[in-house]
This record gives sequence, structure tokens and C-alpha cells, in this order.
Amino acid sequence: MKNMSSWTKKDLLGLYELNKEEIELILDTADSFKEISTREIKKVPALRGKTVVNLFYEPSTRTRVSFEVAAKRLSADVINIAAQESSVKKGETIIDTGTNIQALKADIIVIRHDSSGAAAMLSRHVNISVVNAGDGWHEHPTQALLDIFTLREKIGKIKGLHVVIVGDISHSRVARSNIWGLTKLGAKVTVCAPPMLIPEEIEKTGAQVCHDIDEALKSADAVNVLRMQFERDLKGAFPNQHEYFKKFGITKERLEKVKKGIIVMHPGPLNRGIEISSEVADGANSVILEQVTNGIAVRMAVLFLVSQGKEKP
Ligand code: CP
Repeated sequence: MKNMSSWTKKDLLGLYELNKEEIELILDTADSFKEISTREIKKVPALRGKTVVNLFYEPSTRTRVSFEVAAKRLSADVINIAAQESSVKKGETIIDTGTNIQALKADIIVIRHDSSGAAAMLSRHVNISVVNAGDGWHEHPTQALLDIFTLREKIGKIKGLHVVIVGDISHSRVARSNIWGLTKLGAKVTVCAPPMLIPEEIEKTGAQVCHDIDEALKSADAVNVLRMQFERDLKGAFPNQHEYFKKFGITKERLEKVKKGIIVMHPGPLNRGIEISSEVADGANSVILEQVTNGIAVRMAVLFLVSQGKEKP
């Protein structure tokens, strides 16, 4: 186990707030935890006696289950709250829900919300740990950490890599967290999408912009394919799904023209035949399911570290 003494934060709200050493500490801690999931008895007592509450205001499969599995592997007690089945339906605010969870003596709240800044707001009103499981278009730090962990595991380093993020960058918390994390660790990041799906001034984050996916992929070591978020209003952002797939979709034919070992990632859920073909999603370059497995170790690391932290970010 790595030396955790350099970790001070009680919350994980985003990768924007973390420095290179803190990101590396999470990745190294996840490395130590990954082996636990290969044991016959997949459990250690690191968070025994602690209670983790998953408070989800938006649908989720991977993130919610992954946090639950991670907490249970650390022997924590886990309570899942789907906001739409709770007193939120009666008009309770996030702050009241959060302070009540604190009064119930929970230790960590893992929150997903459709509003950017929801996790940070909750953190200002409770003293227990808050972990952001995705807030609006802002950040999805544990997704980016598991993406980066998977890349590091596959290639052995992050510094000097070229990672292309393709898709709806404007509405993507995954893209933002990946840009902060990858650039802090020394990778080059290119975002690729039709102009309407790239936010103004994205270059200020350190990412480069390219509107031609074939050009962007030429020197790429990895491509992270984002889901087209049809639940958000995308009208006018691109001509139609067929056109998008033709111009930006990650297909076998496209990958045949680039680096042989290019790594294909996707945070899920997939829209097969829109942003990625099934052949690629299920093919040799894809690490999509490995990302899901690695999410457990990364979230174990995050829950463990924030439980040791004292400082508000
Ligand atoms: N990647 C991700 O956040 O997936 P879920 O929405 O299923 O949690």
C-alpha cells in the first residue's frame, strides 16, 4: 500500500481541484486495491463501521453499482437512495436531504445530479465526505480516473500520450474531467466533434480542437468515444444520426488507417451504430469492459482516501 499521508481532502468534487501528485496517488492506491477483486473472498476491512450513501438524482448503471461494489469490498455499509423514490419527490432540497443523511450518521455521500455544481454545493453544507458521481455538464471525476487508470495499465504511462476525445464535448462531464486529468499528467488531448458540440474557449483547458476525426486519429494512442446524449437537447447540433456516424463514428474502416494498437474507450452507455460500431465496441482494440472492472478499484481508492481526509477542497 502506498503512503497515503499526502492525501488531505475529505471530498472529491472534480479533477480541476487536484494536482498531479493527488491524481497519481489515487491511481497508485487503485493499483493496490485492484487485486482484492481477484480473491475468492473479495473483501478487506478498510472501511468497516463506515456508511456510504449513494444519492442518485439521475439514472445510472455503471457508476452506482460500481460505487456500491467498491464500498462493500471495503466492508462499508451501503445505502442507495434513488431521488425519485425519496422525499425529493415531496420537494425536499439537496441541502436538506444531505444534512438529514449526515444526521443519520453516514460518513460519505456519493452524489449524481443533473445540475453542474450540485456536489460542491452539498459539500458546503455538510461536514461528512462528498464524492461527485457526475454533476450536469461539469465533471465526472471517477469516470476520468478509471479511464486514465485503464490507459496507464495498458500503455504503462500517461505522459506524452495523445488522447482523442470524440463526441458531444459541450454536454460532457466525462470530457471535462478527462481533459483536466490527462493534461495534468502530461498527455496531449484533442477534442473532436462538429463545431456546435464543442464549447467556446475549450482551448483554455489545454485541449486542442479538430473537426476531422480521421486527421485527429492519425497520431492518437487512444480514442475516448463519448455517447451522444439524446436526453439533452441536441436539435441543430448535427444533421442526423446517420450523418454523424458517417463523419465521426468510430468504425473498423477508420481504425484500419491509424496506429494498429490504438486503444478504444467509451464511458458507456453505448449508442451502437451512432458514435461507435459494434465491431469496434466488441473488437480487439476496445477496453470498454476493462474500464468498468477498473472502476471498482478506482472507486475503492477514492472512498478510502476521502475517508482519511479532513480538508474541504
Ligand atoms: N459512465 C457512466 O457514468 O455510466 P452510468 O450513467 O451508467 O453510471
